[in-house]
Amino acid sequence: LRVLSVASECVPLVKTGGLADVVGALPSALGALGVRVTTLLPGYPAVMAAMGGGRALRRIDDLFGGPARLQRGEVAGMDIIAIDAPHLFGRTGNPYLSPQGGEWADNGVRFAALGAMASLVATGGIRSLNFDVVHAHDWQAGLAPAYLRYAPKRVPSVFTVHNLAFQGKFPLALFPLLGLPAQALAVEGVEYFGTTGFLKAGLWYADRITTVSPTYAAEIRTPEMGMGLDGLLRGRAGAVSGILNGIDQAAWDPSKDKLLPANFSATQPKPRAINKAALQRRLGLDEDPDALLFGFVGRLTWQKGVDLILGALGTMLGQGAQLAVLGTGDPELEAACRAAAWANPGRVGHEIGYDEALARQIYAGSDVILVPSRFEPCGLAQLCALRYGALPLVAHVGGLSDSVIDANEMALAEGQGTGLHFSPVTREMLEAAVLRTAGLWRDKRVFAKLQANALRCDVSWTRSAARYAALYKDAVAHAR
Ligand code: ADP
Ligand code: GLC
Repeated sequence: LRVLSVASECVPLVKTGGLADVVGALPSALGALGVRVTTLLPGYPAVMAAMGGGRALRRIDDLFGGPARLQRGEVAGMDIIAIDAPHLFGRTGNPYLSPQGGEWADNGVRFAALGAMASLVATGGIRSLNFDVVHAHDWQAGLAPAYLRYAPKRVPSVFTVHNLAFQGKFPLALFPLLGLPAQALAVEGVEYFGTTGFLKAGLWYADRITTVSPTYAAEIRTPEMGMGLDGLLRGRAGAVSGILNGIDQAAWDPSKDKLLPANFSATQPKPRAINKAALQRRLGLDEDPDALLFGFVGRLTWQKGVDLILGALGTMLGQGAQLAVLGTGDPELEAACRAAAWANPGRVGHEIGYDEALARQIYAGSDVILVPSRFEPCGLAQLCALRYGALPLVAHVGGLSDSVIDANEMALAEGQGTGLHFSPVTREMLEAAVLRTAGLWRDKRVFAKLQANALRCDVSWTRSAARYAALYKDAVAHAR
């Protein structure tokens, strides 16, 4: 089976969120199952540099206002095709935002180009290259299923929603530029509440829709969490499924990770304590092995419930606990984290920024990782936490509830449990969960058992890659 994966981000080339991790990890996990994946990416400067320019596949004279070349290369074992179009993608920094901070004004045509090229490449636009199915990710690739539907050759598509909150809505004036047939500008098409909707288009035209956890797949069919698309998703219920994300267990391996002060594993967990002490020193926390250390790594946004963490801080400190925060995001939340650290020297440590090494040190050194998201399609932080032996304390939503086993009374009696859940997602319930965590922490034997359970969890791609492979086959079979 040959798959063309289409996305705007891919680890290790360009990343703003978990989407990049998934797009970067799936090819090798699927490769092990005999599914060959080629990844189509915008030719940002970082992509072109990593490919050393790549080999020329085809020239396009006019791709939304300028010439473009499709270039092929190999990066980190992945087969990549990049759209080398300097007028669209020759910009450094964040792939979506200008240095002034706002969205690039031409994001509509930039990502329409991604969808159009996906369709061209998949339907025979490059001789010698054939694909059985296109796998498009998030709104940036949302037009790929639309272009494919009107292409001369029938190639089925799978569309994965990583976050329904980002919908890629553009003025209707964009539509005539897209080169789609006029009939596509309809509710039964790309039209979405008076806009040209890229996410909507993906959901409408794709043969199969997936999202990144079974619970989120159910949640987005409800008016409460469907963000305006629940009606469409209910209408297509038979085509929607949820496949839980994994992480690349080789890239995230506490027994080999060179960015950690000390390596450890499920069979040798002891050196983990060295990481806790190092983390406390690094963030200016009191070096105290007995203080329960809560960590947070992620975007500082409303979605991630950062305000709830700060709201529950008093309860944490009241239990003698500490808090370590790493992230970037909303300026107000960044300021609130700084203020909390200043007000609580030795008890709250923080770093505003994006720092891969520190992230790993927080997963490896914290006792508990907080993930109090208001909604979470899957979430990777809790998977990284499990892998590095920190218990995830998670909101009972989306992929968080699918990937963490709550250490409730019955689970404890059975020697089960890998973390804690709380619901509803309010400050009060987070505080209650913090108190429950502190209770578990006081019983060293119980806490060690839960930590051992976490370290032994299979958070790999193995199960889910097989589900994607089956889904691709199903999409191909039904498209015949
Ligand atoms: P998102 O909704 O942001 O995609 P995920 O949990 O799916 O959330 O993925 C976020 C990924 O990015 C995780 O692997 C997390 O460790 C990483 N990450 C987030 N913020 C930072 C940061 N400030 N520094 C380093 N890594 C980060
Ligand atoms: C999105 C979601 C996150 C998910 C990631 C990868 O960024 O917010 O929950 O883990 O995509 O699928």
